[in-house]
Amino acid sequence: MALVGIVGWRGMVGSVLMERMQAENDFALFEPLFFSTSNAGGAAPAQAKNEKKLVDAQDLKALARCDIVVTAQGGDYTNEVFPKLRAAGWKGHWIDAASALRMKDDAVIILDPVNMPVIKNALASGNKNWIGGNCTVSCMLMGVGALFKAGLVEWMSTMTYQAASGGGAQHMREMLVQYGALNAEVRSLLDNPASAILEIDRKVLARQQAMTGAEVEHVGVPLGGSLVPWIDKDMGNGQSREEWKGMAETNKILGRGPGFDTAAVPVDGVCVRVGSMRCHSQALHFKLTRDVPVADIEAMIAADNPWAKVVPNEREATLRQLTPVAVTGTMDIPVGRIRKLAMGPQHLAAFTIGDQLLWGAAEPLRRMLRLLLEA
Ligand code: HSE
Repeated sequence: MALVGIVGWRGMVGSVLMERMQAENDFALFEPLFFSTSNAGGAAPAQAKNEKKLVDAQDLKALARCDIVVTAQGGDYTNEVFPKLRAAGWKGHWIDAASALRMKDDAVIILDPVNMPVIKNALASGNKNWIGGNCTVSCMLMGVGALFKAGLVEWMSTMTYQAASGGGAQHMREMLVQYGALNAEVRSLLDNPASAILEIDRKVLARQQAMTGAEVEHVGVPLGGSLVPWIDKDMGNGQSREEWKGMAETNKILGRGPGFDTAAVPVDGVCVRVGSMRCHSQALHFKLTRDVPVADIEAMIAADNPWAKVVPNEREATLRQLTPVAVTGTMDIPVGRIRKLAMGPQHLAAFTIGDQLLWGAAEPLRRMLRLLLEA
């Protein structure tokens, strides 16, 4: 039975990964070896079989025992450990949620319902590095990958509404504390139906603007009752790194662009952090390569994979099915608001939502693990 090292299983992505692996009975397929960065020697979780103790995640010899390592420990860990492990001659498979290795030539971005041919080719040629994609890109492609596969996308603009969870657990906690502070500030006015809404609004704004450094420690500015139109680093050309990833990763996942001898499909837009918890939403604008009826587009999206769900472009269906609240915790990737835009018959709008911890992070990893174990 293959020995699979699991690193970072206690963090937010790692916990979702463990839940999904448990739900799909993945642990029946391998012997897990649980690593820890802080509690080596402690008890491994209940899924452990013969390897009952946590092993130091820096222990290269222990990592090198593994046929496969799955890590959700983060990019710093990957940058520190992965090169040393490979330099020591380890030939196993490395499956990683972090972005550190994503754009390397010897790494494949994994999203098998979208890019199984890319994965299969890479497997056949001996690739060993399998990296989960950026969450917005993965959720978007799970929804509308059909249009790319059919060669229908001349370009795509994506305007994102990204949840607090994309910044990590601390962003979620910070935002919720802020919402609580704002509510507390105006609770007595809210309890009085005769109070003036503009007074409530003034008090909320004053409280937001007075937030201390400690209250905005992780996001930098208030997220509760506001938004932040910049995610990740500044690329120095007017783009945020999150926006840069949109085009770079979409094309790499699809096996297009640099390294694949085909022209890259332009993908660009503005990435925005909003006050939702763990679902990333995106408003998409496609320039199609030809005029295709909306009904055909809907049929292609619905048939592409079992998780993409077309939501009729109607008010009631949208309110019920196309919100982060409706989607969180599910594997569904609803795609709605599908219609031709006023710019012309080759201009298509769509709106899609995905749980960024499931398809956006954990799910492609566990599916890749299964692919390797069942190969
Ligand atoms: N970069 C994403 C975000 C998270 O900040 O929302 C995961 O890919």
